[in-house]
Amino acid sequence: MPSWDGSAYAANTAHHRAFDDAFLTATPIEPGDRVLDLGCGSGDFTATLAELVGDEGHAVGVDAQPSMLDEAHRRARPNQSFVLAPVQRLDEVLGAEHDASFDVALSRAVLHWVPEADQAGVYRSAARLVRPGGWVRVECGGAGNIPAALALLDDVSAGFGGPSCPWTFATPSAALDWVEQAGLDPVSDPRCFVRGVAQRRAFDETSLLGWLRSQTMHAYEASLPPAVHADFRAAVEARLPELRRHDGTYDQTWVRLDLLARRPA
Ligand SMILES: C[S@@+](CC[C@H](N)C(=O)[O-])C[C@H]1O[C@@H](n2cnc3c(N)ncnc32)[C@H](O)[C@@H]1O
Repeated sequence: MPSWDGSAYAANTAHHRAFDDAFLTATPIEPGDRVLDLGCGSGDFTATLAELVGDEGHAVGVDAQPSMLDEAHRRARPNQSFVLAPVQRLDEVLGAEHDASFDVALSRAVLHWVPEADQAGVYRSAARLVRPGGWVRVECGGAGNIPAALALLDDVSAGFGGPSCPWTFATPSAALDWVEQAGLDPVSDPRCFVRGVAQRRAFDETSLLGWLRSQTMHAYEASLPPAVHADFRAAVEARLPELRRHDGTYDQTWVRLDLLARRPA
């Protein structure tokens, strides 16, 4: 699993936070709810969730990286708590005593970091943890995500004998299978959906470098020998001008897997 630097990540979340409102518009969270945030990272969005559910509610953040949770603790409100674990181990760290104990389990920009073979299990755990009638809401990298950056990174990585696309950028149809296998209902309630969404995300040269350095290149480095990490980074950064858009900006195209499903009542 790639390791993350929590403070470097925390300084480079603006491109996610710009889409918080759009995500929340399609997320049925109520005051007083208990919300589970899978892969809470540095916790800025988790704190927003905690504010939304208010003092009668609670937000639990799960993340596999201690430095992320250090950051998240710093931003936390009193109605928050955290669990240090990979989401593949939810059944161990939030066992049977937590069955059906959340109104909403959600995840932002995380599940593409989970290997394909583990995806169905994560959805099953989320389904177990929400109450009957509760919600599972996911947004993460999907098929077609970051096409320009992916082509550049894959090409540089190949030069070092490294991997191509170290993420699970799944199609909506693959995700529909995982959701259904988990016993979730993505259809009956008209609010539910399983879809891919293209987004233009705003970057300039500095913020694009920040994104590459804080949350992108390490995905490749996890499979490259440490001795070549600096050269890998330098080779990617030397080609940054290739990431200019047709209009001359450094804005990038994101394609998100975006879904809302419900545990049958
Ligand atoms: C791009 S960040 C998103 C953080 C946060 N959800 C946000 O919106 O800012 C991805 C997060 O997923 C976490 N992560 C990656 N793989 C994970 C796994 N298997 N289990 C738990 N957390 C994981 C990383 O530690 C990181 O904090």
